[in-house]
Amino acid sequence: VPTTPRGPRLVIIGPMGAGKTTIGREVARRLGVPFADLDELIIEAAGRSIPEIFAAQGESAFRDLEARVLALALEAHTGVLALGGGAVVAEDSRALVAARPAVLLEIDEETARSRVGRGRGRPMLGGEDPLGRWRTLTDARMPLYREAARWSIDATDGGIDRIARRIIETLE
Ligand code: S3P
Repeated sequence: VPTTPRGPRLVIIGPMGAGKTTIGREVARRLGVPFADLDELIIEAAGRSIPEIFAAQGESAFRDLEARVLALALEAHTGVLALGGGAVVAEDSRALVAARPAVLLEIDEETARSRVGRGRGRPMLGGEDPLGRWRTLTDARMPLYREAARWSIDATDGGIDRIARRIIETLE
């Protein structure tokens, strides 16, 4: 009987709009394990929404909180944990995630366009050109995602069910 390691069974990372929360929840449901979303844990810890945290305290306060909540979740959570798009940018956080089974969800720009739209609810995409911001951020972060992830999955198409199934196949 294999011993159960501490920490999440699976961490899901990738750019904004990749479907990390939706697919993570479906993978957890199929595996019969708990699901948690880092952004939701941050909202609970702060008692306010992510746009409110950015507006009231700024990005660096959000990143501090994100890193602290992530470290706790990586210790305590035993199921599937979906992260926000910027959660592995900090080197320490990236190293913690790299020590876990982490999958990168990749999408193309067309898919991002339909998902992140005008950037509503995502302060990192605020301003005139949300998709341009998405592209710049994603290009810069892709090497960091690859460092943190053990494998990656094309999440551009295929539907939630198929992507979830593919992830579970690679886990087994
Ligand atoms: C962010 C991504 C968001 C959220 C916050 C910052 C980022 O999560 O954590 O708005 O820097 O990429 P999603 O990837 O779930 O949109």
